[in-house]
Amino acid sequence: MKTGKTLYWSLDPIRPAPEVVAQAGEILRRGGLVAFPTETVYGLGANALDSRAVARIFEVKGRPQDNPLIVHVAHRGEVAGLISGEVPERASLLIELFWPGPLTLVLPAAPHLPPQVTAGLPTVALRMPAHPVALALIEAAGVPVAAPSANLSGRPSPTTARHVLEDLGGRIEAVLDAGPAAVGLESTVLDLTGPVPMILRPGGVTREELEEVLGEVLLAPGAAGESFGPVRPRSPGMKYRHYAPKATLLLVEGEPRRVVSRIEEQASAYLSRGMKVGILTFEETASLYHLPQDRVHVVVAGSRKDPRAVASCLFSVLRRFDGLGVDVILAEGIEPRGMGLAVMNRLRRAAGENIVKV
Ligand code: TXA
Ligand code: MG
Repeated sequence: MKTGKTLYWSLDPIRPAPEVVAQAGEILRRGGLVAFPTETVYGLGANALDSRAVARIFEVKGRPQDNPLIVHVAHRGEVAGLISGEVPERASLLIELFWPGPLTLVLPAAPHLPPQVTAGLPTVALRMPAHPVALALIEAAGVPVAAPSANLSGRPSPTTARHVLEDLGGRIEAVLDAGPAAVGLESTVLDLTGPVPMILRPGGVTREELEEVLGEVLLAPGAAGESFGPVRPRSPGMKYRHYAPKATLLLVEGEPRRVVSRIEEQASAYLSRGMKVGILTFEETASLYHLPQDRVHVVVAGSRKDPRAVASCLFSVLRRFDGLGVDVILAEGIEPRGMGLAVMNRLRRAAGENIVKV
């Protein structure tokens, strides 16, 4: 693998070599950037208490300055020192039930956190990842670790170390490779600062799972991936086009058979203009297409009945289309329920304005 100046270590996902983890932790503590696996996607870590290190994250990713970072911890007990005030009861309950795991909690920030981490907001986003390598690394660093997804801003999040190197090779100090990320898309971001908990970004823990514990859980405007109109998003990261492959992505939502015929129509139109077309489809609908197979790249992203499996391959499928050199991707939508909501958030945000309902 081409890594530029970036150190590359391959690790056992369950029992990572302690001397490698110690070395990577030392790089983080001294202000370097280390990409590491989590159960959701690969993160780009920096010492959250070092404002210069955090500033470099924004630099290497090309990330807008007003988009705050998630602070990652290795122990539940670290939360108290990173927030202001007591840990709310709801937060303790969620931490007990869902940590380590793909749930990020937004709480009032402790005053000593560098403003680069919170983008100047009075709140901080906290998460304890469920990955032995991530936990060992944070522990070895001995500091909380600020980490966005380890991609160039706007690109699909990385679910393998290869994806990280494609985007950031040569620009960061090190990458730890422990194989593909299991969940495949990012954590759920839940705002606990208001009277009713509110999902700012759907992710690895579903709204339904949270409602079982909390009762009512709101979905912030835009959190399903729909466009905002005049509404200002609650989570700064949501206003940018995101997760986007290089090709234009057109998302078609609706009853599956109607979706397929609309995509066929569109594909024929693009083919007649000499364009290379990719189709993102599912097991149930893949066989319904009648298009020249030599000129269309059809990629099956799992089954509509199993949105968790769709989530786990979604970003790598989007990156695969880039590798195939298609000009346009025609993607089928799925039901925005359970993990399907997070999948549709990512597809809608990758499509931007190019969403058709049939
Ligand atoms: O699964 C994940 O969450 C991954 C892994 C690496 O942990 N991280 C990740 O980070 O997805 P990032 O930076 O790509 O997304 C963080 C999201 C952004 O939408 C950001 O706006 C939001 O969390 N966020 C962070 N701090 C916030 C805050 N204080 N208030 C509201 N939203 C916040
Ligand atoms: Mg990201």
